[in-house]
Amino acid sequence: MTDKSNPYELPTEFVPIDSEAGRFENHDEFVEGSTTAGVRPALWSFKDAMERLESYRDDPKWDGNTRYVSLRGTDSPNSSSIPGMWATIHLLLPGEKIEMHRHTPSSMYFIVKGDGYSTIDQYRIDWTTCDSFSCPSWSYHEHFNDGDGDVVMWTVQDAPLYLYNRMMLFQPAGKPAGFFHKP
Ligand SMILES: [Fe+2]
Repeated sequence: MTDKSNPYELPTEFVPIDSEAGRFENHDEFVEGSTTAGVRPALWSFKDAMERLESYRDDPKWDGNTRYVSLRGTDSPNSSSIPGMWATIHLLLPGEKIEMHRHTPSSMYFIVKGDGYSTIDQYRIDWTTCDSFSCPSWSYHEHFNDGDGDVVMWTVQDAPLYLYNRMMLFQPAGKPAGFFHKP
């Protein structure tokens, strides 16, 4: 067992491998199993997203870090929107922020509406409605709503690729980094 919050912990107890974890396949079996499953296109309406986000507005369970909807593609693994990409829509209230953190996936952002700014490593980006900006892999970043109204922010990341390869590493500023996969 490993501690998710400590990527440096080493295993100390060892058990035999699970005999079910691997098998031989002939050519026909390999070809059948290697065929990519069907993935249907999907639609996520902005109206429905905002209705859901509005229901989170006054719920103390959610704050700037967590008040978002994930655009889940039900044919796609790792909670992704489509294999290889993960999209979200965030609602940031006036004065709220997404606290500084970094992760192995890269991110693209589109400001649907509102005014604020982000820091990405040593850079500050001031943004307004319909601006786009990017955040490279493993760059510390934070996002602030310093305007008078709501901020609605659409994001897409390549997180599912990292999850698939067990390389999805997340680090809150000043705290240990942790992987997003089960031991
Ligand atoms: Fe982030």
